[in-house]
Amino acid sequence: MACFKKPWFASSEFSRNLQQRPRTHHILTVPFFLLSLFLLSASYTSNSPTPYPAATPLFPPSSPFSNSHMLSKPRSRSTLSSVTAAERTHANSTTNSDSQAIRDLASCDIFDGTWVRDEHAEPLYQHASCPYLDDAFNCFKNGRSDFDYLKYRWKPHGCHIPRFDGLKMLRMLRGKRVVFVGDSLNRNMWQSLACSLRASLKDKTRIYEVSGRREFRTQGFFSLNFRDYACSIEFVKSPFLVQEWKVLRNTGQRETLRLDMIQASKSQYNNADIIIFNTGHWWNHYKTRNGINYFQEGNHVYDRLQVSEALRKALKTWAAWVDSRVDRRRTRVFFTGFSASHYKGGQWNSGGKCDGEKEPITNERYLGEYPWTMRILESVISEMKTPVFYLNITKMTDYRKDGHPSVNNNNKGRLRTTVQDCSHWCLPGIPDSWNELLYATLLIAHNNTHF
Ligand SMILES: *[C@@H]1O[C@H](CO)[C@@H](O)[C@H](O)[C@H]1NC(C)=O
Ligand SMILES: *[C@@H]1O[C@H](CO)[C@@H](O)[C@H](O)[C@H]1NC(C)=O
Repeated sequence: MACFKKPWFASSEFSRNLQQRPRTHHILTVPFFLLSLFLLSASYTSNSPTPYPAATPLFPPSSPFSNSHMLSKPRSRSTLSSVTAAERTHANSTTNSDSQAIRDLASCDIFDGTWVRDEHAEPLYQHASCPYLDDAFNCFKNGRSDFDYLKYRWKPHGCHIPRFDGLKMLRMLRGKRVVFVGDSLNRNMWQSLACSLRASLKDKTRIYEVSGRREFRTQGFFSLNFRDYACSIEFVKSPFLVQEWKVLRNTGQRETLRLDMIQASKSQYNNADIIIFNTGHWWNHYKTRNGINYFQEGNHVYDRLQVSEALRKALKTWAAWVDSRVDRRRTRVFFTGFSASHYKGGQWNSGGKCDGEKEPITNERYLGEYPWTMRILESVISEMKTPVFYLNITKMTDYRKDGHPSVNNNNKGRLRTTVQDCSHWCLPGIPDSWNELLYATLLIAHNNTHF
């Protein structure tokens, strides 16, 4: 039996959600989430040299993310409410409230909250102004004309999120390498961060893509460098985290998935300063051929293996790789939760729709159940030696049925009438708030060092 590596991007992006259960009337949704588990860890010596200066670690061992912080129980019911004048003052005022916010944040579950309408909300960057946006996420360019979905701010129940300050974030990231690894939802988040940081620069020519790329969708690896900060914000495509593969059978070549092998990457990223992983949407029955003759370990291809069992094996492969290849004194590992989809009347490939949705969900009864993929993830992370900060965005995204590209997912019109995109998010849009939460966690870490 001969094996071949499967080329990057051999498969469609619209490949998810078949595992979701229909909800009573409206919305098919899956929520997501995050968490951190900090287990004591033996020290570990790092391997290869890094192209970036070995700056002070961003996250010292005494970093303040405690278990109780990340594992705190969800609080009261959240519904949409209007932002109060007091809240707005709080959000807009400067340094004093920033340090207050940092104090609050350290003891708060920032993923448990509500979307508040804020007429004064401004996106972190302007529509169509950012060259790093993939057309598929550029809803404005593709004809979306209602922008109310940008008028909501995420408000955790127990604290305020400090205002995103791109220059401050770049200063924290000076000399650092940030790598997003995962599927197209993580690419959505990567582009949001790149655009948010870019907007804060006066001279926008001080950013370049290492290979001179101007298209930010089809390649397996992108790296945006911010010259003046010696900082890079990168994306590595790896939708399953483990390796897509091919085997030769009597009947011809077959695609398989190597559950025992982390996906090879053109970019060696295990020594980055921050790595943000995700996976989830591709673990559906359609994409994995119902687990029939698809999952492989070593030379063994399983006749049939449950998708959930395969995901557990894959995540264990990932966890072992992180524990052995990532220097936990230097590198901070994040995992983005499962971003919710909202197809109604079908699935992504059977006429499911979300166009015309102009407001978030307000009634929690219409939110989905916590996805099984994330339960498995939580249990795998809890056994790791490396602390993993879980960006638990499932529920916060589940409210936002109004934020998807739907029919505004390309400007050629080919897909307009057949396939809507109710999985990814318009940019500017919902992933910007994930990056605001990422920024908040970096602020906490930095406050405790030397920022
Ligand atoms: C993540 O959020 C969900 C609610 O969406 C919650 O049920 C789950 O316990 C959270 N996970 C962690 C580890 O905090
Ligand atoms: C921030 O740093 C100050 C001074 O080191 C410390 O007193 C404070 O507790 C820190 N705040 C948080 C939230 O860690």
